[in-house]
Amino acid sequence: MKPIGVGIVGCGGIVLQNHVPGLALCPEARLVALCDTDAGVLARAGQQTGVGAMTLDYRELVARSEVDAVIIATPNFVHAPIALAAIAAGKHVLCEKPIAMNYAEAKAMADAAQKAGVRHMTAFTYRFVPAMRYMAHLVKAGAVGEPYHFRSCRLQDWGTRAVGWRQVAKLAGTGELGDMLSHRIDYAHLLLGPIRRLVADDRRFHDVRDGQVSDLEDWIGIMAEFARNRASGMLESTKVATGRGSGARSQDYCEVNGTEGSIVFQLERPLEIQVTKQGEAGLRTIPVPEEFLKWPGSARDPHAGDPAFTFRYDQDVEFIQAIVEQRPCVPSFHDGAQAQAVMDAAVLSIRDRRWVDVA
Ligand SMILES: NC(=O)c1ccc[n+]([C@@H]2O[C@H](COP(=O)([O-])OP(=O)(O)OC[C@H]3O[C@@H](n4cnc5c(N)ncnc54)[C@H](O)[C@@H]3O)[C@@H](O)[C@H]2O)c1
Repeated sequence: MKPIGVGIVGCGGIVLQNHVPGLALCPEARLVALCDTDAGVLARAGQQTGVGAMTLDYRELVARSEVDAVIIATPNFVHAPIALAAIAAGKHVLCEKPIAMNYAEAKAMADAAQKAGVRHMTAFTYRFVPAMRYMAHLVKAGAVGEPYHFRSCRLQDWGTRAVGWRQVAKLAGTGELGDMLSHRIDYAHLLLGPIRRLVADDRRFHDVRDGQVSDLEDWIGIMAEFARNRASGMLESTKVATGRGSGARSQDYCEVNGTEGSIVFQLERPLEIQVTKQGEAGLRTIPVPEEFLKWPGSARDPHAGDPAFTFRYDQDVEFIQAIVEQRPCVPSFHDGAQAQAVMDAAVLSIRDRRWVDVA
């Protein structure tokens, strides 16, 4: 079989951390072209990957005949135009989260991909954490019964450090909401299904980060109602939890309580979950079973490397497998758009200071 040619648009942090090692696990895929508007970043990515076909213009990359699939890892404001150009050229697309600046853009991307018959995937990376996969399996199998509560808490300490395009509304759309909470909104959808309505609030504690203006929120909180069982959702995410650290070793906590039991996930402990059931007095820690330690079909050795990072490679495996098997990717642009609908509702709720139904 001819290898699947992959082109990457936006060659910054996340590409080198997640997607390049992820693609290396896929014998069916070959990285064939790179694009970045920053010539220095592009040259460095070329050196690190050995890929010679490089361009500053994404239109050139998506037009290349050897490119079958495109990974988009630019700042958020250009996700939609790049994705739509790639789809129009008949390419499969894996797009970083949040996939768009608002729900209308995200839906247009999902509709265009659906119509063109190309594979489409949202990089909701934390769905691939072994503990999250196992938690989702247990919830679906009825281990917690009918859900009462979903709770998610992402605490990091980024202090007053500059975060580049992430602190600029016209480049990022939203701050902590899109950057961090979008993943946790996706946990909520994965575990309990659609959020029906919500009320939200946010704060910006730092108008300036390392001398650069910030016009986006550092903290976001959402209180939600799910369609299923009218379960309640509490979602909170912050960049200013002083002293709590940052990245994979800082708090990313998610809990579901239901009629039969409760399950707790923590990103810091990606290979175990905590469970309890009716009649028990507290949580028990259990290991994630072997079959959930990696994505089915992934060539990754789940016992090699740092488990706080290696699961991330499985999302590229899923993208390539879906292309080979001609089936929908999980999570798709529909999942990305669903999260975006919740984000739009949160933005509206904050603006109008009221409960908002999710589109
Ligand atoms: N899934 C995850 O866990 C995760 C983690 C980090 C970042 N992200 C997402 O990945 C995306 C990129 O984040 P990052 O941390 O790698 O950012 P980054 O700033 O490190 O890299 C982005 C790159 O895109 C380039 N770029 C900007 N406009 C471009 C254009 N029009 N065409 C081509 N290249 C362009 C920039 O020059 C830069 O090199 C964002 O959407 C972010 O939210 C996802």
